[in-house]
Amino acid sequence: MFRRPRRNRQSAAIRGMAQETHLSLDHLVQPLFLVDGDNIKQEVSSLPGNYRMSIDQVLKEVEECINLGLRNFIMFPAVDEKLKDKIASYSYAEENFYLHAARKLKEAFPEIALISDVAMDPYSSDGHDGYVEDGKIHNDKSLPILTKMARAQAQAGFDILGPSDMMDGRVGAIREALDKEGYTDTGIMSYTAKYASAFYGPFRDALDSAPKAGDKKTYQMNPANKREALIEGELDTQEGADYLMVKPALNYLDVIHTLKDNFDLPIAAYHVSGECAMLIAAAQKGWLDFDKAMPETLISLRRAGTDVIITYFAKNYAEIIK
Ligand code: PBG
Repeated sequence: MFRRPRRNRQSAAIRGMAQETHLSLDHLVQPLFLVDGDNIKQEVSSLPGNYRMSIDQVLKEVEECINLGLRNFIMFPAVDEKLKDKIASYSYAEENFYLHAARKLKEAFPEIALISDVAMDPYSSDGHDGYVEDGKIHNDKSLPILTKMARAQAQAGFDILGPSDMMDGRVGAIREALDKEGYTDTGIMSYTAKYASAFYGPFRDALDSAPKAGDKKTYQMNPANKREALIEGELDTQEGADYLMVKPALNYLDVIHTLKDNFDLPIAAYHVSGECAMLIAAAQKGWLDFDKAMPETLISLRRAGTDVIITYFAKNYAEIIK
């Protein structure tokens, strides 16, 4: 045998030289669930180890993460039912606690990259990402609401906006609105291929944001489709997105790979709540070794072509490698 692939696996040093992909904290984004109030830290029961936090607790959490070497965060608001309405008006209201929290976070830690969520569902009495009319999600009536929300978030100091709503044309509409107001440096991480997935369950528990009626299949993508992701990628690129995201991540590694091969923008993947919850649950039962299974999961996302990994395990990973 002239070729013996095992030669390159003989020792840690040799395996290190032959290693094709790497994972560093630069690649990771830690999600944060924000609630209004003070001194609140409630564990999300379907996502153990993750909490709904008021801004004072978020500031502490972010400081801990920074001390571990993490710099990238994405924040989501859990909004009181009383503040929700059909047009998600609280999303751009002056007194919105999410916008105030973003300002405080960036004041305290200007060096972090702070990513927002642009979608109506946390603020909508219908629980949908777009505007509901006669039981349907009205694409073009959603756009002005999303652009107002986006403008308010840029003004609050978010570095990058994350449109997760899947309305057609929203990236272009948001880019135009931002540029008009002079927010030319605010980036857009578009949820390019966001699938109608069953794996968002724990997230919707955390935010109480499940749809009140129906499902999200008329705007989120069919899990059976891959080529359609190329259409979405093409549109987002033309409309001015700075990152293309695939969501969920693990069941969609082929989609990540396809986007990476076809586009030059950085590719993000959202390793979503349900995907993380499965691993946590198996580890709690003693069926999997978390400290080994979790890094293997994250490196598989890198191998598939992911540049930016949004994962509830970012802090865990930073702790493990410390
Ligand atoms: C809302 C949004 C969702 C997630 C991120 N932004 C839920 C949904 O579309 O219903 C899911 C994230 C996760 O499950 O971790 N637009």
